[in-house]
Amino acid sequence: MNSKDTRALFLNFFKEKEHQIVKSAPMVVKNDPTLMFTNAGMNQFKDIFLGNEKSKYKRATDTQKCLRVSGKHNDLEEVGHDTYHHTMFEMLGNWSFGDYFKKEAIDWCCELLIERYGLDKNRMYATIYEGDETDGVTYDSEAYELWKQYLPESHILTGNKKDNFWEMGEVGPCGPCSELHYDLRDDSERERVDGKLLVNQDDPLVIEIWNLVFIQYNRKKGGALELLPAKHIDTGMGFERLCMILQNKKSNYDTDIFQVIIQKLANISNIEYGKDEKADVAMRVIADHLRAISFSIADGQMPSNVKAGYVIRRILRRAVRYGYTFLNMREPFICHLVPTLVEQMGEQFEEIKAQQDLIFKVIEEEENSFLRTLSTGIVMLEKIINKCKAGNVNTLNGTDAFVLYDTYGFPLDLTELICKENGMLVDNDAFSQELEKQKARSRNSAVVEKDDWVEIISGVETNYIGYDFSEGDIKIARYRQVTSKNKTFYQLVFDVTPFYGTQGGQQGETGYIQSETEKINIIDTQKENGLTIHIVNELPSNLTANFRAFADVEARRKSQANHTATHLLQAALRKVLGDHVEQKGSMVSPNILRFDFSHFSGLTDEETYEVERLVNAEIRANHPVIENRCTTVDEAKAAGAMMLFGEKYGDIVRSISFGDSYELCGGMHAKSTGEIGLFKIMSEGAISAGIRRIEAVTGANALEHINMIQKTFKEIQSLFNSPSIVASVEKVIKENNDLSKQISAFTKDKNIYIKNEIVKTLEVGEYGYMWSIATMSAPIEVQKDVASMLTKEIDTAIYISGVVIDGKPQLVVGVGAKVIEKGVNASAIVKEAAKLINGGGGGQPSLASAGGKNVDKIGDAVNKAIELIKEIVSK
Ligand code: SER
Repeated sequence: MNSKDTRALFLNFFKEKEHQIVKSAPMVVKNDPTLMFTNAGMNQFKDIFLGNEKSKYKRATDTQKCLRVSGKHNDLEEVGHDTYHHTMFEMLGNWSFGDYFKKEAIDWCCELLIERYGLDKNRMYATIYEGDETDGVTYDSEAYELWKQYLPESHILTGNKKDNFWEMGEVGPCGPCSELHYDLRDDSERERVDGKLLVNQDDPLVIEIWNLVFIQYNRKKGGALELLPAKHIDTGMGFERLCMILQNKKSNYDTDIFQVIIQKLANISNIEYGKDEKADVAMRVIADHLRAISFSIADGQMPSNVKAGYVIRRILRRAVRYGYTFLNMREPFICHLVPTLVEQMGEQFEEIKAQQDLIFKVIEEEENSFLRTLSTGIVMLEKIINKCKAGNVNTLNGTDAFVLYDTYGFPLDLTELICKENGMLVDNDAFSQELEKQKARSRNSAVVEKDDWVEIISGVETNYIGYDFSEGDIKIARYRQVTSKNKTFYQLVFDVTPFYGTQGGQQGETGYIQSETEKINIIDTQKENGLTIHIVNELPSNLTANFRAFADVEARRKSQANHTATHLLQAALRKVLGDHVEQKGSMVSPNILRFDFSHFSGLTDEETYEVERLVNAEIRANHPVIENRCTTVDEAKAAGAMMLFGEKYGDIVRSISFGDSYELCGGMHAKSTGEIGLFKIMSEGAISAGIRRIEAVTGANALEHINMIQKTFKEIQSLFNSPSIVASVEKVIKENNDLSKQISAFTKDKNIYIKNEIVKTLEVGEYGYMWSIATMSAPIEVQKDVASMLTKEIDTAIYISGVVIDGKPQLVVGVGAKVIEKGVNASAIVKEAAKLINGGGGGQPSLASAGGKNVDKIGDAVNKAIELIKEIVSK
């Protein structure tokens, strides 16, 4: 069964069991500070489990794109070296939200695996949680009884907390789990060693395929478990592993999912897969990482130097490095695998198909720049190695290895490899210490301490009234204290709120809440998971009081205008530049709007004017903004609404339309486009490969921006005292050029005069040379010109000058051809003599100069130069 059918069978099986098939959530997580990437199928349902959000359905199933490269679940180092771990993988899952529990989960797991996929139950092993006294969780005998109906009892094993109590992270929903393992070994091997001895022992052929989690608890900060209001089911099956079993392979990489990519790579690198272990590992790593990188870019996460972007950059660099070292790749090659990946997965995941060009471009650019860094790093490392060798040192110190790693993105294993080739070792311990120090530094600067929530009113789901009102009566439902960078503040959740929380690029609102006795400022409003969180510097003294909340109306009006203008801008860009323009980021605040989009070259002035013209025409048309709060994604899509890749949409979505613009959007908008008043682009430029950024202003800000330009213009006009600035500037430039030419001519004449004056005074001196020891206080350029003319005219001339110009000592040495013949090199003399003035410099054998720091020693430097030359010419 190929991978496509395997996936379809899973989803349809659970559809039969009345599960709603849902889309994979984006792999890049937004609005959750505890998680950078989706690391399990249940992430998108976390708030439902916690009771923060109500589910629209009781049962769901999907295939979820997961990435396990950081935090509690990190498989990066295993990838490629074994045959069944991945950074990015698909997790097939079925969920019950307070509906069915253990019995159905285990029944359906067995029905699907044994009856539908036809797996052999004698090769299956289930593990049961042994319990934990501290947590107050007992042995899961219920699960044992259920598995017993399907599997031989000897195939039901007991497992510990690490394997059989599933937790998403340090805090959050969790519960005991039963893992289903499968023994893929040949019969003879199975007879030799009992499969149950190999469960959870890292045997590549006895592997976990499905994890059934019985979610019942919430792990709180500090470690305590609290019972959730309802019991849920969260299951996750490794899609690639299932495919391996069904395709009768011994490695995930031998399934159709990876083989197409590996074969393409073999073709590009001209190296056959399966012949050399090192090249094979490299090919597996690259095939794996290609998926992780491409899907991240498709979900809107570009490689960068911070946070999630940095994780992606490192994964990409890791792949480049494997190709560089083991497949001899010196040119970008990962980007050329993108079309193959899109062919393989583009049908299930349209985001990579639609953004294929962008993914290619971004990867190509990253590869190019890292390949350059790699070669710089290699040159640097070679220099260090040579130095070590010269000093008989055979261990590269940890600091050097760390600088290479940290500054040049040079992986430690590559440093080790190159050192090994040179008979050297790397001080790994010292390297690890440096790394630890750095981690501690970044940990300390990023630590945000959050206390557990304190509930005042339980079970509240905040009612957002901001679309219709800027104020309302509210009560505080819960609060917690947060400490970041030694500053303490508080987060409040209300039962009702008019405040818009940062979301979809629009900044959160500010304002205040007021009771009969006190007024508390809201300094920001944020969205975290499903919650709208209001940030305050101080807690109200009476938390249970009745408050009235007021959002800042003036700021709201400006943000609304900017947000509506952003939609108009997107529509105009697509008209002017083409349909490939996709939103790649946006920021809407009261003062400015920023819009990032995919496009491969800078906008011409004409294009920029045209975009501005179109947006302003739509503003003048004064379209009413039509809001529909109750549409479905499918309905909106069918009607042509723009939606974003990498955005998680609920079942009921909100659409905003006016003129030609029709988008899914949760943001705040003007009532009609006319409210925007005026739209003006301030800047346009590239922010990374294939991504451009426009910053613009609207309304009063736009007018102010234009006035500022006009003011500057007027100032220039008055400086020139002429109405035609362009003609005036042209005239000034021309005059300036003419003057420069004249000055050059005068200078030349002057220098010739000085040179002639010197010639007049010259006499044949010591050892038959004509010495000119000058202390002329002319700029260094004049000195050099004079010296050059002089030594060309008189081949036995020696010109040495030491002067202080603008408080800095300068040394010039020029020598004629005969002096050079005798063995004098002006550059070497200057270098040596300049040491006395703490300086450095150089030049040609005939003419050299140096600047320095020590003014008092300039006379000594001149004497040193004389002495050094005499030493040579006297022989
Ligand atoms: N949450 C569990 C896991 O990730 C099952 O989906 O393994």
